[in-house]
Amino acid sequence: MAKTSRKSSTRQMADSGQAKIGFIGAGKMAQAIIQGLVKYGRVDAQRIHVAAPSNTNVEHLKEEYKGIKTSKRNIDIFGRFDCDIIFICVNPHVIRNLYRIGGSQPAALTTNYIPNMRHPAYVLSLVFGFTTEQIKQCLLNPEDPLKYSVKFHRCVISPSVAYGVGNCYLDVEPDSTNLAEPVRDILSRVCKLEQLTADMMDICCIIAGAGMAFSLEFLKAMSDGGVKLGMARNNATKLTAKMISSVAQTLISSGKNSDFLKDEACSPSGGAVYGLMQLEKSKVHSSICGAVDAAFQRANHMATSGNTD
Ligand SMILES: NC(=O)c1ccc[n+]([C@@H]2O[C@H](COP(=O)([O-])OP(=O)(O)OC[C@H]3O[C@@H](n4cnc5c(N)ncnc54)[C@H](OP(=O)(O)O)[C@@H]3O)[C@@H](O)[C@H]2O)c1
Repeated sequence: MAKTSRKSSTRQMADSGQAKIGFIGAGKMAQAIIQGLVKYGRVDAQRIHVAAPSNTNVEHLKEEYKGIKTSKRNIDIFGRFDCDIIFICVNPHVIRNLYRIGGSQPAALTTNYIPNMRHPAYVLSLVFGFTTEQIKQCLLNPEDPLKYSVKFHRCVISPSVAYGVGNCYLDVEPDSTNLAEPVRDILSRVCKLEQLTADMMDICCIIAGAGMAFSLEFLKAMSDGGVKLGMARNNATKLTAKMISSVAQTLISSGKNSDFLKDEACSPSGGAVYGLMQLEKSKVHSSICGAVDAAFQRANHMATSGNTD
């Protein structure tokens, strides 16, 4: 069993203007959140700390955000850097392999269990396929669980967090006392916060995460159609983006269902219904459902097998 790191910190939780923010994993999601926080969320890069095993992603982060602190040792996020708010941004196979090698208890993600942090710390896990309880087991010493003041949340954050306009789904009511003020403040600088039950997080991870790529594929195809008919590319792209944005707003604010709104957009024997029949012939509906399912199955494979093949 992994040992607990001996160092401990007894300071108070820092407020949101001071809190140290840590990332375990430095890939796409960590980078999107860091970009959002630094460029749109008024967070100084010096408050950001990142751990990842290689330089693949970390080098880019160090160049882009002067003052960011990095390490190859995950334990440094809790020990040496003593972070207050920690995002777990590793792929699901990394956690599955801790369970595979650990025997009755998973091995620690941080090699040694994290120090007995006395100041409140908040771990936000983005990892597909694992509950907060499972993530907790990969960090806290099971012989001493009461010594910690660490609270765990599962969350899904949409990749548009990178531009300060993300959505963040949390396993707690964001406006309640169940979410610590500094965590709420940091997240809401770059995301709209919403509660989602823990059992829906994996599906949400696919819709909010992969869904961005799928939506952009649709946007590109609509814009191609406009270009084919003679519109300049940037006009066609902007127009399509505004159309998609207003459709989404209409759906959300009207509360109407999508079939009703689709009917409203189709006049009898008009162009829209002919276009819809073309989509039907090309099986666009089932292709998109299939894409959501394929993305889910892929993530689930990594979470359950521990393989990336
Ligand atoms: N909307 C959402 O909330 C959302 C969307 C997509 C994904 N996710 C979830 O977010 C997580 C990260 O996804 P991603 O797209 O950012 O993945 P990614 O781009 O593949 O990045 C994974 C990162 O994990 C690092 N890593 C690998 N093994 C590690 C270890 N033992 N300890 C610490 N770091 C380790 C990698 O290090 P190197 O830099 O050295 O390679 C890399 O930086 C996944 O669990 C995924 O399910 C959430």
